[in-house]
Amino acid sequence: MSDPQLVLADRVRAALAAAFGPSFADTDPVIRPSQFADLQANVAMSLVKPLTQERGEKQNPRRIAEEIVARLDVEGLVSKVEISGPGFINLTLADGWIAARAQDALEDDRLGVPEDENPEKVIVEYSSPNVAKEMHVGHLRTTIVGDAIARIGEFLGENVVRDNHVGDWGTPFGMLIEHLLDIGVAAAERDDSSVSDLTAFYQAARQKFDSDPEFAARSRTRVVRLQAGDPDTMRLWQVLVDVSKRYFNHVYARLGVTLTDDDIKGESFYNDLLNPTAQELTDKGIAEISDGALVVFPPGFKGREGDPLPVIVRKSDGGYNYSTTDLATIRYRSDTEHADRVIYVVGAPQSLHFQMAFSVARMAGWVKGGMRLEHAEIGNVLGTDGKILRTRAGGTVKLAELLDEAVERAGAEFDKLNHDESFDAATREAIVEAVGIGAVKYADLSVARDSEYIFDFDRMISFKGNTGPYLQYAATRIRSIFRKAGTSPDDAHGPIRLEDPAERALALHLLGFGAAVKSAYEAAEPHRLATFLFELASSYTSFYENCPVLKAPDEATKQSRLALCALTLRTLVTGLDLLGVPTPERM
Ligand code: ARG
Repeated sequence: MSDPQLVLADRVRAALAAAFGPSFADTDPVIRPSQFADLQANVAMSLVKPLTQERGEKQNPRRIAEEIVARLDVEGLVSKVEISGPGFINLTLADGWIAARAQDALEDDRLGVPEDENPEKVIVEYSSPNVAKEMHVGHLRTTIVGDAIARIGEFLGENVVRDNHVGDWGTPFGMLIEHLLDIGVAAAERDDSSVSDLTAFYQAARQKFDSDPEFAARSRTRVVRLQAGDPDTMRLWQVLVDVSKRYFNHVYARLGVTLTDDDIKGESFYNDLLNPTAQELTDKGIAEISDGALVVFPPGFKGREGDPLPVIVRKSDGGYNYSTTDLATIRYRSDTEHADRVIYVVGAPQSLHFQMAFSVARMAGWVKGGMRLEHAEIGNVLGTDGKILRTRAGGTVKLAELLDEAVERAGAEFDKLNHDESFDAATREAIVEAVGIGAVKYADLSVARDSEYIFDFDRMISFKGNTGPYLQYAATRIRSIFRKAGTSPDDAHGPIRLEDPAERALALHLLGFGAAVKSAYEAAEPHRLATFLFELASSYTSFYENCPVLKAPDEATKQSRLALCALTLRTLVTGLDLLGVPTPERM
């Protein structure tokens, strides 16, 4: 274990047990970075109450801190312990310990981050675009954030199941199929734009549906046939699904998103489970008939007038809806997939829907054995005017055009850099693609996922500040040191010695990688990892400014600094990869 916070927490717990008895070993010592030392243990204050109770005499937090320190075994790990204020315990780590742990990380394929010994089965549901509709910036964000969560969970050794809950079912398919028949299925098969331009296709179908009664009637009949599983209708439906899948895969490939066709479990997948789900809710006495519909009233949900809010399981016309599908999905994920944790990476506006669905699932007993259902809310994406992102002409922004523009702007910024070498056209193009796409992805990942976020090209494509290009550039600058030295980062073995305060600060920061990854996974908040990487790059910059590497005063110092460079590089590249941001070899 190399994370100082975790190591110290263990030692403090041992001291608590030794000083106050084993029942205190469970107390959370809360070890945090501090202004006055490397870390601070904040535990004495919270022990005042239980110890006062036990000892029958009012306890003083400073005295408690002294008792803990007297039992604290941190030989070789901590060089200085001080009690400050009302009982904070300030801890300064020993330089030798930090250096040794950094050396361990350098020699370890996993940078000193252990795999979870008891992996959990976690379903990460993300992207979930709709068939026969263009993906929008909201889907872009759920796709990027969800992919990062899946990658991070996998790195930690969890049993990650990616799940793309594609919207591929519902009444609009009646009109879409009829429109497809009017155009001719062959058009879809040769990827003709009359079908593959999804927005135009959808709008044309809608327009006919609204203006042509004969078409509307055919569409309704078609829905009935679709729901009955009529083979010809299912084949046509599949044609539409396939056109959309090709489009989704195109977007995923360009973004470097790890979703494949095997990860798709669309709404249609749960079709056969809707009846049994409604039946189970009825049998368990949870669902009731209200105004002809089958509904559940989960406790605590009220409408504007204080009236109880229902989850509609079956409409009065007998049809099922979005909520029914989500209930069937939870039931399946519990009973069949046996998930320990399900992370729904979906827009924040659907928060009430999920809260209510989770509540019904709990009533039905589907959330069992510590299973966790979490809505990882994704905030809206706004334009620089603070409104929902639109094109200048006021239309919806097409994803492909957005990415093209990012890459084009990345190219312009890239050309302004001071390059060590010149690049041929193909190399430049590959780098610029990685920078443009990386910039868009990192911008999504670096802010708290549930906050609204302003899509601003100028900010995200800058080579300064907390941006993708800045971190990519930082990594390539380190690679260029090794090129100048005529060695490879893989051959840097130190030994790491910490003499300059900037070396020590960098090494200490590097040891926090595992904790950052873990906390990003636990909270399903990739921005925690992004923040760690940005701070690592800043820490590296002050190291680089204060500690010459190739012109180090002696060979041992040079080797130590090269090792710190190599460890920083691998941590940056690994961390960016966990976020799904590529790092070009050269820039
Ligand atoms: N297809 C939906 C949309 O585009 C998102 C699906 C979210 N997931 C779910 N289990 N309901 O808004």
